[in-house]
Amino acid sequence: ALTHADELKRLAAVAAVAEVPEDIFLGIGTGSTVNFFIDALVQSGKRIRGAVSSSEASTERLRRYGIPVLDATELDTVPLYVDGADEIDPDFAMIKGGGGALTREKIVAAMAERFVCICDERKLVERLGRFPLPLEVIPMAERLVSRRLRELGGEPRRRLGFVTDNGNAILDVHGLVIDDPDALETALNDLPGVVTNGIFAHRRADVLLLGTGEGVQRRE
Ligand code: A5P
Repeated sequence: ALTHADELKRLAAVAAVAEVPEDIFLGIGTGSTVNFFIDALVQSGKRIRGAVSSSEASTERLRRYGIPVLDATELDTVPLYVDGADEIDPDFAMIKGGGGALTREKIVAAMAERFVCICDERKLVERLGRFPLPLEVIPMAERLVSRRLRELGGEPRRRLGFVTDNGNAILDVHGLVIDDPDALETALNDLPGVVTNGIFAHRRADVLLLGTGEGVQRRE
């Protein structure tokens, strides 16, 4: 049975199908909300030419439905990227990477002309940072990066038993106060050994479809 949160995710996911132009190459994110979206897209019968995927998990789901998955290196841009988020603020800056797919997500998001974010209402926050911020880190830099993060006021914890699709580690950083997501994204990008940080402020969402108890709210 679906939980209440799942129901709201599904509502947002179904609404996102209407945002997809027919016959495009579509960027696809990762997570349970995106899984609902892939299912809804297929059920709608809307045709797409193919997808660029942000994770092995999404690729597998797309292929099971017979949707061609292209390598990101085969295209310059995609017209649309659809993905969830772990947190999103009123200016559409996000924390992502709860599923560990943040690097590929950031790449496909940056390729996209338009980013539609789908999530349930509990993910909309006034200020980012309650959700631990994921960082993908080259294993040899883990200690160095952890020390720098503590200097920034965060408490990094290695995600145990987890290796990213790129063979790296994830640090989940607790306790960061993220008043300026743009500046923190830049500062974290500057740490040697950080492949990607989970702040999506430079490339924000353009549209938010929020599943709420009263239906889907569309914000732009
Ligand atoms: C994956 O790495 C994340 O960025 C996802 O977008 C996020 O975790 C959303 O997941 P759910 O849709 O399962 O909540």
